[in-house]
Amino acid sequence: MRLAPVNEDNYRAVIELEVHEEQRRFVATNLKSIADAWIHRPHMEPLALYSGDDLVGFTLLRRNRPDDLHVVRFMIDRRVQNRGLGRKGLAAIAALARAEGRRTLSLRLVPGNAVAHGLYKAFGFVETGETAGDEIVMRHDLAPAGPPAGYRDGDQ
Ligand SMILES: CC(C)(COP(=O)(O)OP(=O)(O)OC[C@H]1O[C@@H](n2cnc3c(N)ncnc32)[C@H](O)[C@@H]1OP(=O)(O)O)[C@@H](O)C(=O)NCCC(=O)NCCS
Repeated sequence: MRLAPVNEDNYRAVIELEVHEEQRRFVATNLKSIADAWIHRPHMEPLALYSGDDLVGFTLLRRNRPDDLHVVRFMIDRRVQNRGLGRKGLAAIAALARAEGRRTLSLRLVPGNAVAHGLYKAFGFVETGETAGDEIVMRHDLAPAGPPAGYRDGDQ
């Protein structure tokens, strides 16, 4: 999964990505997110999610504090959901945050969004106990990427 800037070439396709009708209450449209990003530049960054050459999703990231990367929006197009792309998208966002030296990923979740909640929990997000309006705040600690499984000191 690759995170790429939203630019002149792909923004129309990003706007056309959509979630299922019953998911619309969980996430703003990508059109609104691109507008939010422009208003809050440079703190917000809109990114397209590519699986190979295919545009499959979108995220809007916010950098408020040096140690945290906040996921403001995250969506996978309805046509390709439930194939593991959400998990891969989160992994790409976590890798970006680590590369920037951040310690945590944070996000807010509309109550009742069971699929997203399950995905975030399985990924390692925990509820902080805080709420923002009626949204649930979740955070994921980014332990430094360790050695590959099975690696022992001294192994070649
Ligand atoms: C949340 C979202 C990004 C997940 O994307 P995805 O590509 O379908 O996610 P994945 O396929 O990687 O994983 C989905 C997980 O939810 C599970 N899942 C999928 N559909 C489900 C359903 N209808 N009910 C329960 N669980 C479901 C899958 O089994 C999978 O868990 P597993 O890996 O343990 O099997 C996507 O559903 C989406 O865009 N939703 C609308 C926007 C949204 O709510 N964004 C989050 C805002 S905070």
